[in-house]
Amino acid sequence: MGMCAPDIPTALRQAFFARVVAWQRQHGRHDLPWQGTRDPYRVWLSEIMLQQTQVRTVLAYYGRFVQRFPTVHALANASLDEVLALWSGLGYYSRARHLHACAQAVVAQHGGRFPASAEALATLPGIGASTAAAIAAFCFGQRCSILDGNVRRVLSRVLADASDPARASAQKALWAAAQALVPPDATPDDMAAYTQGLMDLGATVCTRSRPRCDACPVAALCAGRASGDPTAWPRRAPRAARRTVSWCLPLYLRADGAWWLQRRPARGIWAGLWAPPVLAAIEALTAWLQDQPGVQADWPAALTHALTHRDLRLQPVVCHLPTRPGSVSAPSAPGVEPDRGVWCSPSEALALGLPAPIRLWFQSLASGSRTSISR
Ligand code: ADE
Repeated sequence: MGMCAPDIPTALRQAFFARVVAWQRQHGRHDLPWQGTRDPYRVWLSEIMLQQTQVRTVLAYYGRFVQRFPTVHALANASLDEVLALWSGLGYYSRARHLHACAQAVVAQHGGRFPASAEALATLPGIGASTAAAIAAFCFGQRCSILDGNVRRVLSRVLADASDPARASAQKALWAAAQALVPPDATPDDMAAYTQGLMDLGATVCTRSRPRCDACPVAALCAGRASGDPTAWPRRAPRAARRTVSWCLPLYLRADGAWWLQRRPARGIWAGLWAPPVLAAIEALTAWLQDQPGVQADWPAALTHALTHRDLRLQPVVCHLPTRPGSVSAPSAPGVEPDRGVWCSPSEALALGLPAPIRLWFQSLASGSRTSISR
């Protein structure tokens, strides 16, 4: 079947929206803390947190964020480090950096009020087309469709979309189809229910591997279901093999108990977070250690930490420094000036934005338990 908007059968166009809205009102989620408000600040914050992260995980973070930063002004005035520290554990830290930049842009460019159209929202840092549409539909009742990963799955099944997802034209056509499913006379309340309904359907019924078609309000309209195997959609693009990146992490420790941390470069793995120096090869460190008889090195067990697209293999090396240097001139991270960093106690480190395995390390030190990084 072709996927241009005019190809959507009339019966589908008429029934789909109404069924999703009715189903959401009856069976969808209604008591999440970011529902029941049209405050764009709160809706925006929740939508950014919910990108790539489960509702269950977001719940604790959302409450803490809103308490600490009740308004977009409060967030814009915070330091990036405080935002990153509060975000720590949610992952995908570029979201936190964009969140902070977006709050500042809303204050500086829009007088502290989020713009009311998806198009204008999508020009702000960290707000993609689907998130912009969600905010515009929830807060301003705009007749625009979302199309995040879950909704892409729902629509590609309903329409049995055969186009190759790797092609930009297929993405464009699915956007056009999503938009064509929204009736011109949808009310703001309908738009909020429909948008949440699409999300709820994707999250709870039209799931990736075991869709519950018997509970689905649009099963009778679904071409994917009619085919007998709805899980054949969305068509998958072939995956690149997962790569492993090996890093050596020298953990420089002064006799007074202070640890050396440096801010990671703005791009790449752990971008902008605080971490020990990162060495791609262990040789630079072992050569340095041989020239430093006063430095005692401990080699805790290596660990593997899974990122989205690769596995990180981390070899920590605790380097006990006999003197009390003001900065570290030992092997350091490429792209980081060797003497740019901070000495901090475990509790000071925990107030910074840290990658998850480094946070675990300092948590276990702060609780006085252990001397090795492990999960
Ligand atoms: N995922 C993204 N946005 C969401 C929302 N508003 N409710 C539940 N899950 C979501």
